[in-house]
Amino acid sequence: MTATLTDSAFLQACRGEQPSHTPVWFMRQAGRSLPEYLKLREGVAMLDSCFQTDMVVEITMQPVRRYGVDAAIFFSDIVVPLKAIGVDLDIVPGTGPVIADPIRSHAQLDQFRDLEADDVTTITDAVKALVGELGSTPLIGFAGAPFTLASYLVEGGPSKDHRKTKKLMYSDPDLWHALLARISVIAGQFLRLQVEAGASAIQLFDSWAGNLSLADYEQYVRPHSEAVLASVADLGVPRIHFGVGTGELLHSMGQAGADVVGVDWRVPLDEAVRRVGPGKAVQGNLDPTLLFAPTELVHAKAAEIIDAGRTAEGHVFNLGHGVLPATDPDSLARLVDFVHGYESN
Ligand code: CP3
Repeated sequence: MTATLTDSAFLQACRGEQPSHTPVWFMRQAGRSLPEYLKLREGVAMLDSCFQTDMVVEITMQPVRRYGVDAAIFFSDIVVPLKAIGVDLDIVPGTGPVIADPIRSHAQLDQFRDLEADDVTTITDAVKALVGELGSTPLIGFAGAPFTLASYLVEGGPSKDHRKTKKLMYSDPDLWHALLARISVIAGQFLRLQVEAGASAIQLFDSWAGNLSLADYEQYVRPHSEAVLASVADLGVPRIHFGVGTGELLHSMGQAGADVVGVDWRVPLDEAVRRVGPGKAVQGNLDPTLLFAPTELVHAKAAEIIDAGRTAEGHVFNLGHGVLPATDPDSLARLVDFVHGYESN
């Protein structure tokens, strides 16, 4: 729809400009709900697929081809840089990341060595190939934020209450901060390698930060997210920062150094804009379960979100969290067309 990458609607909105249409992409657009993805992944383990250049390129392109979204998100996972430095972990289908030796002691931190370019050449090769193939469509690189990565490393796997994570945070702040400081360095290195290979924006996913109070977030977590975002500031690409259930943290997450604050569906977008404050764009925030509702309702809600987004200095349309696996791809295709064609009054 636009001639150059720099003038793409997505990058314009991230910079706080007003593009000719509202840009849209979907978290978890690559994978899960697409039949062409499931076919390609048959018999290939998730983590193996993340290290196969051709597979990463093809899966990243699939939603771009099918939906005409305004940005591609690189197909990978937040635990990939940890796997690349040798941490013993796997992604278990239907469960998520599982860690062999959950973190309990300082001695275990030795495994978190720096991430070197050589560790991820198959991945950066995929980024380079994608940038060529995508042309004027931007590629978003990403990493897991320190808290969300730490939650898997300490729990050993997914958790609802993050009990062990918080126990460590409250009872051994030295080990906690040392762990988060180490993984912030690795997350920053992973982002830098993706941008140097050609990604034109980054998203730092702190998916589970919404489980923290604002006070705990600011004391135990934000300094480390801030370190990650600051470590890529010199690259000059927009930095998006997102978490689920982060209504109370939105301002603080913006202040951690984001250019764009991702918002889940719990807070109306104009209220989120107010909480984030001036000088930042926002991204969001259609409830992913709404895609199972009648089309008229989906589009009415999307229109409301776009109108609310006009109060922001830049709005990127997205879901409030990832596409659910059972989502009908056609409902996403219709939503993209609707967002692109919608003119608010
Ligand atoms: O489309 C995209 O967004 C790009 C690819 C992507 C994946 N994971 C691929 C994936 C991205 C950006 C992620 C990030 C990620 N991974 C996050 C942060 C974003 C979020 O969704 O909150 C988190 C918390 C993870 C950890 C993780 N990995 C979970 C919770 C799961 C789901 C487990 C399941 O099967 O229910 C994974 C696995 C995973 N990551 C899949 C994909 C496509 C599914 C694996 C498969 O298809 O076999």
